[in-house]
Amino acid sequence: MSVNSNRGEFSSKFAFIMAAAGSAIGLGNIWGFPGQTASNGGAAFVVVYLILAFILAYPALMAEYIIGRYSRSNIIGAFDKIEGGKPFRFTGYAGVICSIIILSFYSVVAGWVLSYVFHAIVKALGFTEIANWAVSQGTSTTIIFTVLFSSLTVLIVLGGVKNGIEKWSSRLMPMLIFILILLIIYVLTLDGAMEGLKHYLLPDWSKVLSPNLILSAMGQAFFSLSLGVGTMLVYGSYISKKENLASIGISVTFADIGIAFLAGLLIIPAMFVASKQGVQIYDTAGALIAGPNIVFQVLPALFNNLGNFGIFLTFVFFTLMSIASVTSSISLLEVPVSHAVDDKNMDRRKATFLFGAIILVISVIIALNVGTLLGLAVQVSTQWIEPIVGLLLCIFVGWVMNRNEIIKELKEGYPEVEQSLFIKIWPIFVKIVCPILILTVFLAQFF
Ligand code: PHE
Repeated sequence: MSVNSNRGEFSSKFAFIMAAAGSAIGLGNIWGFPGQTASNGGAAFVVVYLILAFILAYPALMAEYIIGRYSRSNIIGAFDKIEGGKPFRFTGYAGVICSIIILSFYSVVAGWVLSYVFHAIVKALGFTEIANWAVSQGTSTTIIFTVLFSSLTVLIVLGGVKNGIEKWSSRLMPMLIFILILLIIYVLTLDGAMEGLKHYLLPDWSKVLSPNLILSAMGQAFFSLSLGVGTMLVYGSYISKKENLASIGISVTFADIGIAFLAGLLIIPAMFVASKQGVQIYDTAGALIAGPNIVFQVLPALFNNLGNFGIFLTFVFFTLMSIASVTSSISLLEVPVSHAVDDKNMDRRKATFLFGAIILVISVIIALNVGTLLGLAVQVSTQWIEPIVGLLLCIFVGWVMNRNEIIKELKEGYPEVEQSLFIKIWPIFVKIVCPILILTVFLAQFF
């Protein structure tokens, strides 16, 4: 197996966990998870989500790490390097296409997030008109901020694994956790927060077995842990052979779940605080507002009621969201870029500009047709392609890859793996439990 020595490698376990957690923690955690929880019976959703994260997402995450580190390649190249991989090559292409679709819509939404950071700064300086224009979410503002966000992503990825991804993730992730905790403490002191906490933490068990809830929880788990597109696979390919993959996977899973849970502690109480202040938090059908409206309507309305301090909070909250978004978007762009660099010998700069430009064009098309294309892009990528690619990667590791090679790979950084509980349980999950579960839930959505 030939290994390209210019690929780059994360310099430490800390750096890797920051980068991988940075990828996992994104809009999916801070806006998706609380929104899904709010509209799916509060804690009932949290419980199902936690179970799926461990029985479904963690095993699938390990499958990606193993393929990546073993092959030292991206999601397409990996299938050329691993015996028996050729028939699975199309899976790699599906993953790359999926990363491109996700990043295209992600940049539009993250552009809106950036527009609020800009809004807060300009408003604080007294330019109210420009501030309000920035967050009007009209076509031109959407495009301007999408371009801005995409440029940020490209700039970081240009730096490569150590000087781009690792450097920025290690700086930004600790900041994100700090800001999040401060915001939670503040919101919990406000009137109405306790009602929100109740809604969040007391389960409505009648909803637990609803197929819709389980489908949403699975989609959320895949999206949130950045699975089924090759992101974790390619990040895995940059982990040193000295590290213990199984334990790194656990850390990343916990970090992702932990931040999603914390984000729920912020967003759901904040919604009820907003309600106390007269902000509409239920839609016309009587359900709690979910989706983008929480972040782009309910919270800004709440902050707006808080005067100058509210402007500051707007700045802090949307900075938090921007950090979460950019550490995820760089991991998405790395998927096509790594393929071009590894398999086509393309220069990293060229590949980054090329895919950055292609994705930007698609983002602009989405921005021009937000009403129809945004939802479609989300559905096709997160509910269709991600689970299927995730399923195929599990099948590949579970049934096609040579078991001895897998154990050899896991032994790097974890010499006692053969005596571990992990090696007794995990194979059953990748081979049987995950494929059956993913397929069942996937098919259920069509009936
Ligand atoms: N996990 C990211 C989030 O929660 C999104 C993402 C999906 C990133 C797939 C990379 C790959 O927002």
